[in-house]
Amino acid sequence: MNARSYPTLHDCDPGSDDAITLLTLLGRLDVNLLGVSTTHGNAPLSATTQNARALLKLAGREDIPVYAGALTPLVREPVYAPQIHGVTGLGGVPLPSPSVPVKSEHAALTLIRQLCAQPGEITLLATGPLTNLALAERLRPGVLKEAKQIIIMGGSLENGAPRLGNTTPRAEFNAYADPHAFDVVLKAGANLALIGLNLTRQVQVTRARAQQLAAVGTAAAQTCSALLDDYLDRIGKLGQTVGALHDPCTAALMLSPELFDWEEAHVDILTDSGERFGETVQVGGEPNVQLVTGANEAGIYALVAEALRRLP
Ligand code: RIB
Ligand code: CA
Repeated sequence: MNARSYPTLHDCDPGSDDAITLLTLLGRLDVNLLGVSTTHGNAPLSATTQNARALLKLAGREDIPVYAGALTPLVREPVYAPQIHGVTGLGGVPLPSPSVPVKSEHAALTLIRQLCAQPGEITLLATGPLTNLALAERLRPGVLKEAKQIIIMGGSLENGAPRLGNTTPRAEFNAYADPHAFDVVLKAGANLALIGLNLTRQVQVTRARAQQLAAVGTAAAQTCSALLDDYLDRIGKLGQTVGALHDPCTAALMLSPELFDWEEAHVDILTDSGERFGETVQVGGEPNVQLVTGANEAGIYALVAEALRRLP
């Protein structure tokens, strides 16, 4: 058994970039992935859960348990992103049929059980709406503080980059899909790292980057390349020629923090109805996040490619 350095939980809404994140984790010898939990988000919960199971099958890692979580956000109505990820959530990219059923434990209870079993040890990567994390915190106040760190892909902060959303003019998808959950997590007092669009837009998705992953040659790498090409096809129809590698930045930050810059900040989220609903804002006050501000694009892609090389 290899000496594992990173006991990890991945809460996600696969989703093309969630998929690349998960496969990157699976390709690392130093990551002990304790479980995958799924949420509504890019696609309905049934699809994101099926996708997580299929990705583990692709990687030959159906030994890793999948726990389904929140069907809907805490308060608002569900919102999905078929225009970006397709109705299946993975752009119709072919994946093997999973053979291991989803576990019966609700993801929120899994987060509580795992975080309390190893206080201060587990890094939680959150790459979808934060509903499962908020439910865990509501059920067991203080539980999120038991994580070594929670690395969130979500929100969009100025910090030198345009404060532009990707779902509304002001809001990023994960924040917008459940801003009330985002608010619970921001106020939980946990060790949070926040990776917003201001950061992920520094890690571009292009045809050349998709080809870089294809050249790795494994089936997992080819799948990731196909997911990036599908993503580029879809955003191309919306007039965008370059995408952003959102979710894999969470894994890269855990594994190679030297590829990033960050600063302490206080971030709030707006939950009043109106055009700013779901907008994240940096304000004064006691810091509540490490706001990630800089990224090394080439280093991140090299980390992803190196991990995918180890998979089937
Ligand atoms: O805004 C980007 C985020 O929303 C990513 O996590 C992507 O997978 C979608 O969930
Ligand atoms: Ca996601």
